[in-house]
Amino acid sequence: MVRPISAGKSFTLQRMKPLENYSLRNLNTFGLHASARYYASAESLDELQELVEWAKKQQLPLLPLGGGSNILLKDDYPGLVLSINLGGIECLPSGEGKKILRAGAGVEWHDLVLFAIANELGGIENLSLIPGKVGAAPIQNIGAYGVELKDVFHELEALDIAQNKTLRFNASDCRFAYRDSYFKNEGKGRFIITSVSLKLASKGYTPNLSYGGIRQKLDEMGVKDPGIKDVSDTVIRIRREKLPDPSETGNAGSFFKNPEIPVTAFEKLHAAYPDIPHFRLENGMIKIPAAWLIDRSGWKGRKLGRAATHHRQPLVLVNLGGASSAEILNLAARIQKDVEKKFGIALTPEVNII
Ligand code: FAD
Ligand code: EPU
Repeated sequence: MVRPISAGKSFTLQRMKPLENYSLRNLNTFGLHASARYYASAESLDELQELVEWAKKQQLPLLPLGGGSNILLKDDYPGLVLSINLGGIECLPSGEGKKILRAGAGVEWHDLVLFAIANELGGIENLSLIPGKVGAAPIQNIGAYGVELKDVFHELEALDIAQNKTLRFNASDCRFAYRDSYFKNEGKGRFIITSVSLKLASKGYTPNLSYGGIRQKLDEMGVKDPGIKDVSDTVIRIRREKLPDPSETGNAGSFFKNPEIPVTAFEKLHAAYPDIPHFRLENGMIKIPAAWLIDRSGWKGRKLGRAATHHRQPLVLVNLGGASSAEILNLAARIQKDVEKKFGIALTPEVNII
């Protein structure tokens, strides 16, 4: 039963009182059943600090939550789940044909993309339609269609949970890498991101069409000299064709990362599988699409209980309806085992397992 806690707790606003035994089913895009011992929403920094203080006094663990589109909840959460809903977008001058776009952590990521496009600011149009909120974007350095957050990142502000004070992080502090950052490693569980600032182009911008599928789609649509809106529309089309809509089919996007392997290991695989798709990286490693490895291991579109891989994109694990977290994890483990056996490659999850 959901009820506000009362005894002896005085919050500035009635609205932000933590609720007890709160179902998280509609707050994770996998649609998994799990509940939070306590749940609250913070809409300002003051509210967030007050809630953090409250959780610390009760010695409760804290889980900041955005759109729940990159989590798998294994069990009920024993502490305070905090929906981060700090809003607001502001645009500041920056010189050299650039502008700084600063957004509260609770802004929907795609709304920020649409704001940038409406204001003719280039740099994040390739990241159109990624689900979730601004505050989670730096956690895994979101990326799609040839662009990553790090390419346009300026700085972020985050609340240091131990001190209950905000700190600023520049790009090098964040240690961004492919689907990775400081906040998934040493900084894990220590900070709540409250705002993110991006440096976007206001003049002399050429859209990034490096990802094969974008150029091809633009050609099909007869667009010769694409602007940022054309690129965004194209990315949206590609995504809608390929990826399941979480409002219809529970999923959290790519379940695993695309593995990076050394050249020597790649050469052996290439000899055995001459059609293996691959991308040479600046660090000398070779990236292999996990979707291909899963597909070639016979897992594309296959079901296991109420969990399955998506029929168009097997890197996306889906909840066919009523699946438990154990069913999703069991499917993931079976895929990992078969890919490892066939290709000698260990797939690592991209989704945050909580
Ligand atoms: P959540 O799932 O709520 O949280 C993710 C993690 O971040 C959790 O560990 C959480 O505790 C932490 N967190 C959340 N907010 C904060 C905060 N303010 N401060 C500190 N920690 C926080 N990702 C890509 O990179 N590229 C894609 O192309 C892509 N496509 C997707 C397509 C689909 C259909 C789906 C369902 C997901 C896709 N994703 C993609 C994954 C997901 O959209 C991103 O990882 C997104 O940034 C998650 O945002 P969220 O607000 O939903 O985060
Ligand atoms: N492929 C197959 N079989 C399939 C589907 C794909 O073999 O059924 C192979 C093809 O060779 C294809 C390749 O996999 O060229 C790559 O597929 P896709 O272009 O769909 O991209 P991806 O590598 O699977 C990554 C990201 C996505 C991001 C897209 C576009 C990761 C883990 N995933 O997917 O991000 O949207 O590129 O840039 O890096 C996410 O992180 O949740 C996510 C969806």
